[in-house]
Amino acid sequence: MAFADGTADFRSDTVTRPTGEMLAAMASAEVGDDVYGDDPTVNALEEESAQVVGKSAAVFVPTGTMGNQLSIMYHTSPGEEVLADEGTHSRSVERGGPQALSGVGFRTTSGEGGRITPEDVEAAMEMAGFYPRISLMIWENTHNLSGGRVIPLDLMTETTSVARRHGLSIHVDGARIFNAVAATGVPAHRYAETGDTIQFCFSKGLGAPIGSVVCGDQETIDEVRYLRKRLGGGMRQVGVIAAAARIALRDRDRLAEDHVLAGKLATRLAESFPGSVEPADVDTNIVNVDITKVAFDWPEMSERMRRDRILVNPPFGDLWRLVTHRDVDDSDVDRLVEFLR
Ligand SMILES: Cc1ncc(COP(=O)(O)O)c(C=O)c1O
Repeated sequence: MAFADGTADFRSDTVTRPTGEMLAAMASAEVGDDVYGDDPTVNALEEESAQVVGKSAAVFVPTGTMGNQLSIMYHTSPGEEVLADEGTHSRSVERGGPQALSGVGFRTTSGEGGRITPEDVEAAMEMAGFYPRISLMIWENTHNLSGGRVIPLDLMTETTSVARRHGLSIHVDGARIFNAVAATGVPAHRYAETGDTIQFCFSKGLGAPIGSVVCGDQETIDEVRYLRKRLGGGMRQVGVIAAAARIALRDRDRLAEDHVLAGKLATRLAESFPGSVEPADVDTNIVNVDITKVAFDWPEMSERMRRDRILVNPPFGDLWRLVTHRDVDDSDVDRLVEFLR
């Protein structure tokens, strides 16, 4: 459903607002001091989250960034490196986090859609002992910057087994893992099996205002919980937000609707501006558009869009990223395409 004030917001799936049901659940949430483990709503959310991804424990964190950073802190020691796709969020957007918090650098791969192959791992490990030690590999599924592409489970399983053979730990940045699930029908626990830890977000597309979890085995999560406290992430009566996150988790299948809408947007843009979008590459809720095929003057257009209550992010180079979510609908897509035409 579109926003009540008529704004069509394609900037991100993080712009969704909590539903009436979420707000009511937040208002009536049973709470306690979560640092003491006393918040029943958080405890329920952590249990449900761990169960959905087939891990034994979970810890609630305020953001996906903190979930990734804590996982990197847990899995690495200063001076080591992390093997990841060059566009992965933890490297490209979280930027100085891994360097500042964990003292690690990145060894990068550049496969299509964020894919890392067994050969990539073998190549990275070839000079082990000469270059900095690689202790961790990170998957990101779905892969945000490549346009929400799904990394196939088979590839994850195969590459992970090679990485494990080399002694690497594995973290899955599953900020949008339920988009991958909705797109493929593969259960979340199968993707999660390819990592020792997985983090996922309630605040993207699922509509919760705040929150992510890191899931793993009990010993790992106990330590991640300790690191969360060290970073100042020990929260108190946080059941007020966990209550909304529980509803987001329960209703995660709704993400399939966003994929249908993104498919429609991609098809309409491809028809109107040939070559601007490859609809077959739109796996989930993110549509990457080649702006040179739409050919407009960005500063002027952005001003006119804002006046027409259409919100989009500026392009990165030639690439324009449009995102569908619960708070945009068919009429918003029509309005955006007509506007561009
Ligand atoms: C793949 C991925 N990981 C992590 C994050 C970070 O999440 P947050 O904004 O909650 O810190 C994002 C945010 O968009 C993301 O796309």
